[in-house]
Amino acid sequence: MSASESQIAVRTVLKQGLAQLREAHVPSFTLAAELLLLHVLGRDRTWIYSHPEEQIGSADADRYFALIARRKTGEPTQHLTGKQEFWGLEFEVTPDVLIPRPETEHVIEVALDRLAVRECRAGRKQTLIGEGLQIADIGTGSACIAIALAKELRGATIYATDISSAALAVAHRNAKRHSVSDRIHFLESNLLDGFTARRAANAGPSVVGAQHAAPLLATDSSSTPRQSPITSHQSPLFDLIVSNPPYIGRRESATLMREVRDHEPEIALYGGEEGYELYADLIAQAAAHLKPGGILVLELGHNSLPAVQPLLDAPTWTNVGVTNDLAGIPRVIAAERL
Ligand SMILES: C[S@@+](CC[C@H](N)C(=O)[O-])C[C@H]1O[C@@H](n2cnc3c(N)ncnc32)[C@H](O)[C@@H]1O
Repeated sequence: MSASESQIAVRTVLKQGLAQLREAHVPSFTLAAELLLLHVLGRDRTWIYSHPEEQIGSADADRYFALIARRKTGEPTQHLTGKQEFWGLEFEVTPDVLIPRPETEHVIEVALDRLAVRECRAGRKQTLIGEGLQIADIGTGSACIAIALAKELRGATIYATDISSAALAVAHRNAKRHSVSDRIHFLESNLLDGFTARRAANAGPSVVGAQHAAPLLATDSSSTPRQSPITSHQSPLFDLIVSNPPYIGRRESATLMREVRDHEPEIALYGGEEGYELYADLIAQAAAHLKPGGILVLELGHNSLPAVQPLLDAPTWTNVGVTNDLAGIPRVIAAERL
């Protein structure tokens, strides 16, 4: 076969990929077909549309149609390309972490707004860089929230926990990729248990009692866990606690898209039979770990608000506010520790 016979135009390949995904009823099939082709060719979107007649080799075409075949069976596009954008930043994603969702950007917006209001109230007018702020991200997954905050608040130190060591490995790589690994400390822990255990025992970071808790991992290249700056006498600890906890109900699993149900980690999806079960512990622990005036920002599931709002009541909490997402669903709840 001659070189020209083994070539095929970009336009033709894209058209065929798109048709296959449409026939298989893949959601957002046009975008998926484009993203997979961009991934295979290592090009950006403008290139594809400005070079429709460009010929690509059969090896690239074969790789593309192999990915199309996997996408047809329900594998998420992001698992095939290994990345997802969030807050204008590109994150590595694998089947070990939740794929960052656009609605989670509301968590960042609310957190930054609340911090800015706190600065104004304190009479500080300079640009908010979060100098000296101590922040915790609970259930960090890919670390999309922790890293977005680290980028916005270059004076802040962030502690990011997850119960999944596999997720933390991805989080760790993302922090390095975005050059914030010196300001994010990762901790394998059930919610905030890791912090509690250290405080209760007045112990160093390598002595953590909870079943899921492991030594505090520094995000630099050192293999030795770095000493935690959190000690028992620093209480309460954080200026801001954020979390996008698992909040889907197991009883809803049949209604999930197969891309989600069959490919994203169960530990990242389900909060319990109803979905909102983790919030009570999370809020109680957050209350014990926030400074007076500290801020809590939580992402909510579509049905979580009635169960969660009553947990943020006086005398512990004040200034409770709910933010809807673009679909009008109450998506974020925030409150201030009294
Ligand atoms: C909904 S995902 C959110 C991931 C990421 N923060 C985001 O917004 O994309 C929930 C994360 O919480 C973690 N997780 C689940 N149960 C946990 C627990 N009890 N303690 C700490 N992390 C937990 C999961 O492993 C998962 O990474």
